[in-house]
Amino acid sequence: MSNEWLPNIETTSVFLSPSAVVCGRGSSGNVASLLRAHVGMDSGNVVVAVDDAVLNAGLARDLVTDLERNGYAVTLVSGFGSEPTSEVIDSAAATARNAGADIVIGMGGGSVLDSSKMLSLLIRNDGNTADWLGVVEPGEGVAPLILVPTTCGTGAEATRIAMVTVAGSKRVVSCAKFLPAIAIIDPNLVASLPRGVIASTGMDALAHAVEALMSTAGSPMSAHHAVLAIELLVGNLEKAFGGDQDALASCLWGAHLGGQAINAGVVLGHSLAYCLAHEQPMPHGTSCALALPYCIAYNQSLNPGVAIKLAQLLTQGESDNLLDAALAIQGLTRRLGLPTSLDEARVPESTEASMASRCVTDYPRPNNPVAFDESTILEMLQSMRSGDVLGAFAVTGVLASSDQH
Ligand SMILES: NC(=O)c1ccc[n+]([C@@H]2O[C@H](COP(=O)([O-])OP(=O)(O)OC[C@H]3O[C@@H](n4cnc5c(N)ncnc54)[C@H](O)[C@@H]3O)[C@@H](O)[C@H]2O)c1
Repeated sequence: MSNEWLPNIETTSVFLSPSAVVCGRGSSGNVASLLRAHVGMDSGNVVVAVDDAVLNAGLARDLVTDLERNGYAVTLVSGFGSEPTSEVIDSAAATARNAGADIVIGMGGGSVLDSSKMLSLLIRNDGNTADWLGVVEPGEGVAPLILVPTTCGTGAEATRIAMVTVAGSKRVVSCAKFLPAIAIIDPNLVASLPRGVIASTGMDALAHAVEALMSTAGSPMSAHHAVLAIELLVGNLEKAFGGDQDALASCLWGAHLGGQAINAGVVLGHSLAYCLAHEQPMPHGTSCALALPYCIAYNQSLNPGVAIKLAQLLTQGESDNLLDAALAIQGLTRRLGLPTSLDEARVPESTEASMASRCVTDYPRPNNPVAFDESTILEMLQSMRSGDVLGAFAVTGVLASSDQH
């Protein structure tokens, strides 16, 4: 089997992952023994940050009961909402500090997991969220962290990143210590996910894996995880959307591997996604899904070994051609009920030039295979207006066609 898609093994790369990844139905209900085994703490003061929908559905009950039964003190914090703000996180940090918390457990989608990462930093160190933006190395480290995803999306339980909204702008906090001591992948927790959340978060996960495989900062580990994540998500997302619980469990695992894959970083697709959501608020995965075919079009000249592998994965073996891959993503996005054009997503036409400019200045990606060029990105956004993937391929290079090979 060809391995021309694997990054150069001669190049030094570092791959960070959770210290322990525990998976299995019901595994979140055995958290106390996991804390003992993998963190070495058999008592403590635990702040549990929980998504509101998860709390209301009773999905945190087993975890909390298990902690209390085993002698841990528990303080619950919730109310993070989607796209958590610095004010909401700082308020939860004040509660956790007052309670003397020394362990943080986050249970929810990316919004709660990212907030939990900030809590683990803030209870050990002085200051508020806004004092800790960018790449940070907190002097007092972070409190032991356990992350339990409940969407099949961000893979945030496997990344060093926390996304927070400060004064209306989405900002990144990057800290190598945000990789948790334990990630718990419990499929029981996604069983109640609304179909719309399965669709958007699943496409976010697929975008992570595809963009990580395209990244010039990839490693053999990130590429390996990206390939398996794409296989799992392409093979299962539509079935999960249709109600198949085993397929949904596979998507949760795919999302986790996608999170691990973004050790390589994401590329143009995520930059475009942030610009789209800035002009027209929409779920993160919805903007990622809309942008992904155009990310592929822009990068159509990428390493041929990676291009062929990506095309084969995204078309489930039907084609070696990236145009077919981009069209396959667009078709999947449409079948999942998500918008596939700027018009469908109601992104105003008047914002195209400022999005192209913002993409280059606010969200540069040195690891994108092709350097960012504002005028080409603008033309591509104009193709995205009507969902014209073929037009985007024509704009960004050699016209690829389905019958080229
Ligand atoms: N840290 C990272 O590496 C990383 C990566 C990608 C995205 N993100 C960030 O993560 C955030 C998005 O996270 P997300 O897509 O997981 O969405 P989310 O956490 O905002 O949750 C989406 C919705 O699903 C609901 N929900 C969550 N779990 C549920 C369950 N089991 N049953 C029913 N409803 C449930 C939530 O209440 C919410 O309404 C964004 O801020 C994004 O920027 C972070």
